[in-house]
Amino acid sequence: FPPSHPTGYTVDFYRFSVSWARILPNGFANEVSEDGLQYYKNLTQALIDNGIEPVVTIYHWDHPQILEDLGGWTNELMVEWYTDYARVIFEELGPMVKTFITMNEPKISCENGYNSTTAAAPGKVLENMGHYLCVHNSLKAHATAYHLYDDEFRATQQGQIGMLASATGWVPGDNVTEESIEQHFQFDCGWIMHPIYVGDYPEIVKTRVANISALENYPFSRLPEFSQEWIEYINGTTDFFGLNHYTSVMPIFDTAEELGIYTRDSGIIKSTNSSWSTSSAFWIYVLPEGFGNVLRMIRDQYNNPPLYVFENGYPDSGELEDYERISYHYEYISEMLTAINDDGCNVMAYTIWSLLDNFEWNAGYTELYGIISVDFNSSDRTRSAKLSTSWWQEVISTRTLQDVPSNSTRLDSVTEGQKDVQNAK
Ligand SMILES: *[C@@H]1O[C@H](CO)[C@@H](O)[C@H](O)[C@H]1NC(C)=O
Ligand SMILES: *[C@@H]1O[C@H](CO)[C@@H](O)[C@H](O)[C@H]1NC(C)=O
Ligand SMILES: *[C@@H]1O[C@H](CO)[C@@H](O)[C@H](O)[C@H]1NC(C)=O
Ligand SMILES: *[C@@H]1O[C@H](CO)[C@@H](O)[C@H](O)[C@H]1NC(C)=O
Ligand SMILES: *[C@@H]1O[C@H](CO)[C@@H](O)[C@H](O)[C@H]1NC(C)=O
Ligand SMILES: *[C@@H]1O[C@H](CO)[C@@H](O)[C@H](O)[C@H]1NC(C)=O
Ligand SMILES: *[C@@H]1O[C@H](CO)[C@@H](O)[C@H](O)[C@H]1NC(C)=O
Repeated sequence: FPPSHPTGYTVDFYRFSVSWARILPNGFANEVSEDGLQYYKNLTQALIDNGIEPVVTIYHWDHPQILEDLGGWTNELMVEWYTDYARVIFEELGPMVKTFITMNEPKISCENGYNSTTAAAPGKVLENMGHYLCVHNSLKAHATAYHLYDDEFRATQQGQIGMLASATGWVPGDNVTEESIEQHFQFDCGWIMHPIYVGDYPEIVKTRVANISALENYPFSRLPEFSQEWIEYINGTTDFFGLNHYTSVMPIFDTAEELGIYTRDSGIIKSTNSSWSTSSAFWIYVLPEGFGNVLRMIRDQYNNPPLYVFENGYPDSGELEDYERISYHYEYISEMLTAINDDGCNVMAYTIWSLLDNFEWNAGYTELYGIISVDFNSSDRTRSAKLSTSWWQEVISTRTLQDVPSNSTRLDSVTEGQKDVQNAK
């Protein structure tokens, strides 16, 4: 994304997600909501008019209820229904949009939605295999939409399209070994990206789930198999590695397995240390070195693909003087720059999650990630600058990482920042 405002305060690109139900209220492409489309066309045009490149996520964890009633991502027909939806997006937004993400973090939405009653919609637990079916069909849907774009839209629209995966990093600790790191990575990120960059699920994922399924007396593996045709059809279907990264763990082998007890298909316990810096999200610790480890692993596993960091961010409770957030971004970006400059990682862009505070899934308003505050109690959702607003403005206008402000300047900076947001309006 070339700098659009080399000396201004404006970001180069803005990533947003389209809601399936707002475009196709019935779920299917037989009825398209013109209002829904117009909303996104207006937004896209407003970005372009302001020199900001739109980056569009086609599917971000929400699909119309009727599709869920028909089985959602456990039904293979979702591949067709998703592709019909993607076609509408390509036709209607494609002329204005140069970067499409087919779907956001299928591993997380599938595990949270189809292997947990509490973590995310639809909140189903399906015999410890709903998440495998969901990822399986998601990968097929992703690949089918990629080929559709390739065959019918790329020549005229000249854009790019790809998959976006999450990756949890790792840091050293007792019993963390190269092998435990590898196994953690394959079950976490490889499950999604190996089929796309290398072909098929990682060997370790296939054999472990098959073996554990056999121990449990299933006549099949809970991990579905791809046909050779699908393996080839999915392989190579991304123009970039979309990465969301927040935090790290110490991945260690589950020693219960030595006693023949298999409690998790991955065989990995994600260990943490109570001395680590925390955030308002129970799972996010501040461990910047884990980010570099992820970037170098992706470089090595997938032949150093062009990579966009589409999410990286820190949740707190909404403080305007958000020193911890600035410090998080400072440290994570420093780590990323080392990975780029010293280790040759092919990182093309970095995106803060998030511009604005938002409703964070089942955590509601208790985990706020924005560099701009939103008052969700006011009818006009009043925005206020945080300290990180002016810090980020400085970073993007100078194209230089800025020091974390010291506490003595805090009040002045907040006032400055508020002024800038007012002017930007
Ligand atoms: C789109 O923008 C036009 C022109 O400003 C406006 O009239 C219309 O209401 C907008 N539509 C939606 C759905 O936002
Ligand atoms: C899925 O759920 C089962 C039981 O409900 C649990 O044992 C397993 O660890 C879960 N798997 C994942 C990947 O979350
Ligand atoms: C947790 O961190 C403390 C302080 O850095 C360290 O002494 C301890 O060994 C760590 N524990 C583990 C299990 O890594
Ligand atoms: C590391 O492994 C050893 C041997 O299995 C075990 O005694 C020890 O408790 C483990 N340490 C951690 C932090 O898991
Ligand atoms: C996947 O594509 C890569 C690059 O074209 C190729 O080297 C590899 O053999 C393919 N994998 C499979 C399983 O076909
Ligand atoms: C799966 O089981 C086979 C046969 O018992 C064994 O050779 C192999 O090592 C096992 N693989 C894994 C990853 O557990
Ligand atoms: C809205 O106001 C109530 C009462 O003052 C407060 O408890 C709550 O945290 C506020 N909610 C948000 C999202 O700001």
